Amino acid sequence: MSDFKGQLGQYKIIRTKDNSPTLWSEFFDENCHSDHGAYSETIYNYIEGCKILTRPISSILEIGYGLGIGLKATLEQYNPDQNHPLHFVSVELDQELVEWSKKNVQCENFDFSRLELRDQVYQFENESLKVDIIIGDATTTLKQTPLPSFNAIYQDAFSPKKNPALWSVEWFEMLKDLAAQDCILSTYSASVSIRKSLLEAGWHPHSHKGFAGKRERTSAHLVGPADESLERRLRASAAQALRRN
Ligand SMILES: C[S@@+](CC[C@H](N)C(=O)[O-])C[C@H]1O[C@@H](n2cnc3c(N)ncnc32)[C@H](O)[C@@H]1O
Repeated sequence: MSDFKGQLGQYKIIRTKDNSPTLWSEFFDENCHSDHGAYSETIYNYIEGCKILTRPISSILEIGYGLGIGLKATLEQYNPDQNHPLHFVSVELDQELVEWSKKNVQCENFDFSRLELRDQVYQFENESLKVDIIIGDATTTLKQTPLPSFNAIYQDAFSPKKNPALWSVEWFEMLKDLAAQDCILSTYSASVSIRKSLLEAGWHPHSHKGFAGKRERTSAHLVGPADESLERRLRASAAQALRRN
């Protein structure tokens, strides 16, 4: 496994403690995952966080394709050949990352080299699985692409400090328009500002124990019981929701 140059500068591939790789991006100056384990973190925050294996799921939206670990973990845990058919959509700024995953990711239930680029979307489709990885800035591409209503959203952008556009009230309002009524959005972040962004966009945030040494993570729902005490504390907090302008 080696370092490589993409459209957004240099990347370093780093082994995490569960032996899965993560990526350091020069452009964002940040790692994609916890060094405690990229694969285990993905299972914890997204497969378990969005309850992928315990309720009916037909479509998942991932924010940030990175090295493709979200897709690999999803297909290894939820085998669409033995379940409801699945439509997995991801978004990614840098096409070179998808090219890297086509050559390097080994997955029990899916051959990544079969992803084919057509009209700026890497695509695969058979009777049980459809994959679309949309290349470009997700703040515009998601508005331009016909999409299903999603049962689950993996909010896996870089941190709010490094990638603020993908944590703003306007961003979460757009995700709300793409969400099915039963949608669970899950993220590793527990920042008060991003929870306020979710709340102001019409989501109900909930707090959960975080992965490995991390104290908390966040999920958000559109319907179902709200955590009134958390919402009161967020409204009273001096921290500001993130706004695009
Ligand atoms: C934390 S990494 C995602 C890791 C990935 N989920 C995985 O499992 O390998 C965040 C990714 O979001 C991408 N990204 C950042 N800003 C973006 C934007 N505006 N639109 C689309 N992708 C973006 C970055 O290039 C990076 O690959």
